[in-house]
Amino acid sequence: MEISNRLLQALTEAQLDFFRGSDAHHLFDKLLTALLELTESEYGFIGEVHREPGGKPSLSTHVITHAAWTDELRELCGTVLSTGEPLLLNEPTPRGHPPLRAFLGLPFKSEGQLLGMVGIANRPDGYGPELAGFLQPFLTTCTSIILGWHRQQKQRITEELLRQQEEELQRNRDHLEKLVHSGTAELLQTTVALEERQAQLLHSERMASLGQLVAGIAHEINNPLGYITSNLATLTQYTSVFSELLKLYRELAERVGPGLQGPEAELLARIQALQEQEDLDYLLGDVNELLHDSREGAHRVADIVRSLKAFVREDSGLPELVDVNKELATTLKVVWNQLKYRTEVKCDYGPVPPILGRPAQLNQVFTHLLLNAVQAIPERGTIQVATQHEGNEVLVRISDSGHGMTKEVLARIFTPFFTTKPPGKGTGLGLSISYGIMSRHNGRIEVQSQFGQGSTFTLRFPVAQDI
Ligand SMILES: Nc1ncnc2c1ncn2[C@@H]1O[C@H](COP(=O)(O)OP(=O)(O)O)[C@@H](O)[C@H]1O
Ligand SMILES: [Mg+2]
Repeated sequence: MEISNRLLQALTEAQLDFFRGSDAHHLFDKLLTALLELTESEYGFIGEVHREPGGKPSLSTHVITHAAWTDELRELCGTVLSTGEPLLLNEPTPRGHPPLRAFLGLPFKSEGQLLGMVGIANRPDGYGPELAGFLQPFLTTCTSIILGWHRQQKQRITEELLRQQEEELQRNRDHLEKLVHSGTAELLQTTVALEERQAQLLHSERMASLGQLVAGIAHEINNPLGYITSNLATLTQYTSVFSELLKLYRELAERVGPGLQGPEAELLARIQALQEQEDLDYLLGDVNELLHDSREGAHRVADIVRSLKAFVREDSGLPELVDVNKELATTLKVVWNQLKYRTEVKCDYGPVPPILGRPAQLNQVFTHLLLNAVQAIPERGTIQVATQHEGNEVLVRISDSGHGMTKEVLARIFTPFFTTKPPGKGTGLGLSISYGIMSRHNGRIEVQSQFGQGSTFTLRFPVAQDI
């Protein structure tokens, strides 16, 4: 009774251990120790049957205590495995180490299939068949531990597989995300670059056709302007002759007038009446002034036409030595009518060395900056244009007293199509195009702006190297 209690306790403990997660080797170790003690056996083992597909069943033992794995033992086990029946041996065989005196081999099964066996040896009194029955719960425990263990292993393998699949999936997801991300970023970049390029092409095409138009108009104006100027010069000469002649006529009239009679006296009276009526003295003075003003006007027109032609002159494709002061003056003349009503423009041209560049493109940059400046001025304000030689650079600074920019606007002004102006007023291209032109000139644009306090754009060009 005491023995069966101890057996029951050992088995219950083993099952508890199993549920607690102890590993099978440890459990079998404990079970076998208890078994050897209970059955007063000298040594023993618990083995599990393995079946290779198509091969003979083999035994892998979990524990062998105090045993040398002898040929006898192998043979006895072989018999148990092949018959699937318990084996009792109480005839001592002299061979083996330690010598085998008695042996009990008990198979354990699940649903008729052999799962393993328990072997114990050398009980001093030998083994009886009743022991086989007594140890049945022990065998059932071994069966449930092995089945449970298999289930755990399977579960672990499945879990591991699932984990690996999850990892693989995550990796794929990450990879895909990266691909999509980099693809999207690349696509976005390409699209932006393309849009920018397209916008600039469109712009330069527009500028080119505008340039042709302007050059054509300038040419057409130049022709009549030529004879207007020359006719004005001739007219001035003629007028001086006429006024000289008039003066002489008047002198003559004063001298001979008092002695005239009849129709001659009448004619002179009509002449004098007309002189007084039309204020001839005033006319004589004013005609010169009118002619002077007209000549001035014609000069100004000629000057503007010249500026226009310089502004739109064809880009030779090759950079040339450029005097930024001259180009700035040209640009200012062209955009003057947009500036003059609302701004006072102060120019401070410093002595600057030439830079290497394309004048038509530089004029574009100056125009964009000057127009932005005046557009930033709400009612009236000042625009300052200054040039300066600093180190290896020529600086062009265009400042305005306009509304300035917030940090958010400032961060985006070079982005193509970014504009804060109402539709129809701003294209958002001026600064991005200027930026492109500046980098093609190996130059830079710097911006300083305070919201509400105006902005300063500084262009930095490298001084042309001596050739
Ligand atoms: N001098 C300036 N003062 C204030 N804001 C400016 C100035 N120059 C440019 N900006 C800002 O930068 C934006 C982009 O300028 P730009 O590229 O020339 O395009 P657009 O003039 O067609 O809007 C403008 O809409 C404006 O918000
Ligand atoms: Mg602009």
